[in-house]
Amino acid sequence: MTSDLSPVDRAKFVAARRAVRLVETGMRVGLGTGSTAAWMVRLLAERVRDEGLDIVGVPTSTRTADLARDLGLRVVSLDEAQWLDLTIDGADEFDGRLDLIKGGGGALLQEKIVACASDEMVVIADAAKEVETLGAFPLPVETVPFGWRTTQALVEEALVSLDVAGGDTTMRMNGEVPYITDEGNYILDLHCKRIGNARQLAMVLNQIPGVVENGLFVDICDLVIVGHEDGSVTERRAGEPREPDMLEGNLFADPD
Ligand code: A5P
Repeated sequence: MTSDLSPVDRAKFVAARRAVRLVETGMRVGLGTGSTAAWMVRLLAERVRDEGLDIVGVPTSTRTADLARDLGLRVVSLDEAQWLDLTIDGADEFDGRLDLIKGGGGALLQEKIVACASDEMVVIADAAKEVETLGAFPLPVETVPFGWRTTQALVEEALVSLDVAGGDTTMRMNGEVPYITDEGNYILDLHCKRIGNARQLAMVLNQIPGVVENGLFVDICDLVIVGHEDGSVTERRAGEPREPDMLEGNLFADPD
């Protein structure tokens, strides 16, 4: 499974490997979206196959649902599961408070709903995702297609009076046409550069008509597991001191 991985994929792999150890039989597990989460889905499927782990998964995108089903995982909707024991997902950025920017893969809406319906949200990431202040990664904001240019103008107007370093926004494209989310919406990417007050920004954005949800996850993540290229893993729990716990020296020992 792991031969010929790039250094960053090695880091994502070991973070995912550590995270799937948190899954126990009987759990309802939220399955995140993105390249790191895809490793988690593969490794979870491996545990189901090899250890007979009995779980159900709630995917956060059609991409993840397809992957999970292909690998033989039992997939149910959030409405069927209603509440989850654990969600494991990637992130585009995380800070010292474990606040996140998510949605680089366009799945922020389902990701936030699923994370908020979970007893615990665990983020898996490579070390490059850690930032002092959120905002270098463009902040995705999901908007309904109707009147999206007006929504964009209102978002830009709001940014002027908020604690951000940049106010440009761009419509996410898929070639020549707008990118369409699983919910049939558009995504505006906000080039804030630095977000001084993530909670305030998240609240203001969600008050704008046409905005469905934003990619700031404030006070949602409980634990971040960081994979490193040398195969080691560190973790940080919300509310605990900045210095991360070293968990394992090398998790990259893989029989494949
Ligand atoms: C998907 O919409 C995102 O929130 C991803 O979780 C995020 O973009 C991280 O993706 P990678 O694991 O591919 O970096």
